[in-house]
Amino acid sequence: MIKLKGALIGCGFFASNHILAWKEINNVEIIAVCDLNIKKANLFKKRYKIKYSYDSITLMIEDLALDFVDVVTTMETHLNICKILSNYRISTSIQKPFSDNLVDAKKIVNLYKKNKTILMVHENFRWQTPIMKIKKLISSHKLGKPIYSKISFRHSNPVGYINQPYLYKLKKYLILDVGIHLYDLSRFFMGNAKNLFTVNQNTNKKFKGETNFTTLINHKDGGVSIVDASISSIKKPDRFAQTLISIECQNGSIDLDYNYKITLHKKNKKTFYSAKPINYKWISKPWDQIQESVVNTHKHFIKSLINNRIPDTSGKDNLRSLEMVFASYSSFYSNKNIKLKL
Ligand SMILES: NC(=O)c1ccc[n+]([C@@H]2O[C@H](COP(=O)([O-])OP(=O)(O)OC[C@H]3O[C@@H](n4cnc5c(N)ncnc54)[C@H](O)[C@@H]3O)[C@@H](O)[C@H]2O)c1
Repeated sequence: MIKLKGALIGCGFFASNHILAWKEINNVEIIAVCDLNIKKANLFKKRYKIKYSYDSITLMIEDLALDFVDVVTTMETHLNICKILSNYRISTSIQKPFSDNLVDAKKIVNLYKKNKTILMVHENFRWQTPIMKIKKLISSHKLGKPIYSKISFRHSNPVGYINQPYLYKLKKYLILDVGIHLYDLSRFFMGNAKNLFTVNQNTNKKFKGETNFTTLINHKDGGVSIVDASISSIKKPDRFAQTLISIECQNGSIDLDYNYKITLHKKNKKTFYSAKPINYKWISKPWDQIQESVVNTHKHFIKSLINNRIPDTSGKDNLRSLEMVFASYSSFYSNKNIKLKL
């Protein structure tokens, strides 16, 4: 079997999930890893039995014939990394948040457009098994046009942030880090957004930025969503890292509850489903559905490369979710409903 050859850039906290997820895919081999900190790159090379390690992206690209790269670095590094990769026309999958501002994100999209190169944002929430399942059920049960959605990510488990110390310093925290996923889900289920209104709270002084937010979204097709997240929601069992969703459509509704329990309501009848993530050896609670979705997201990227198709979460598509993020901050700062332009 011919395998696509890839490299991973950024050997930090989340990159282990990326490497282990790549190993689940038969027609792909990650042949190199790269980190500015060569010790980290060497450790990854050894731990995950990768052929090569580098501390320079340019050197790695010049040395190896790569079919793609997977970028797992934080947002402020993305523009510079993408300048190099797009210049070499290397198909790229890049972690969220795509950028810390919309201007740079647009620059990145234009670079890849100019060089006719595939760019996908690793927006993995819509590739979680329970979330894909409710999307399928809405369609197969002909629930019809969605009218309302509630998309919620609330927990109080520090495991959600202690491995990412850079989060404490951000003036913009939860909307940019988690809201980006949830806004993407609102678009996935309800279509693009027209305008939104956000209220933020800070309930944990370790963080500079907001630790809770609640957003009301008007969608272009007439639907309405409430999207909210919190790191101070005390429940037993703690809900990390499950997104709970309720969607009401013309002909029925569907709920995704804790522990992947799905209830579909139609014609005075309730039907129950379960949508547990695949239990790969390397996944564990409470990250299980997130870890599993990394495999599904990689698969979508590879399928897009092989078929030369634009990925569902292309850079261009992700601009709309990112625009919602920055509109949310504008809304909170100005106490106004913000119209979206894209
Ligand atoms: N989708 C998800 O579910 C999910 C979950 C957690 C984290 N993330 C995202 O993953 C990204 C990475 O997060 P993390 O916690 O692993 O970060 P991290 O800081 O632990 O790791 C990033 C690594 O990238 C390296 N790096 C930075 N610039 C580089 C460059 N130019 N060349 C080579 N290496 C470079 C750094 O040295 C560092 O080792 C973040 O954007 C974060 O939001 C996503």
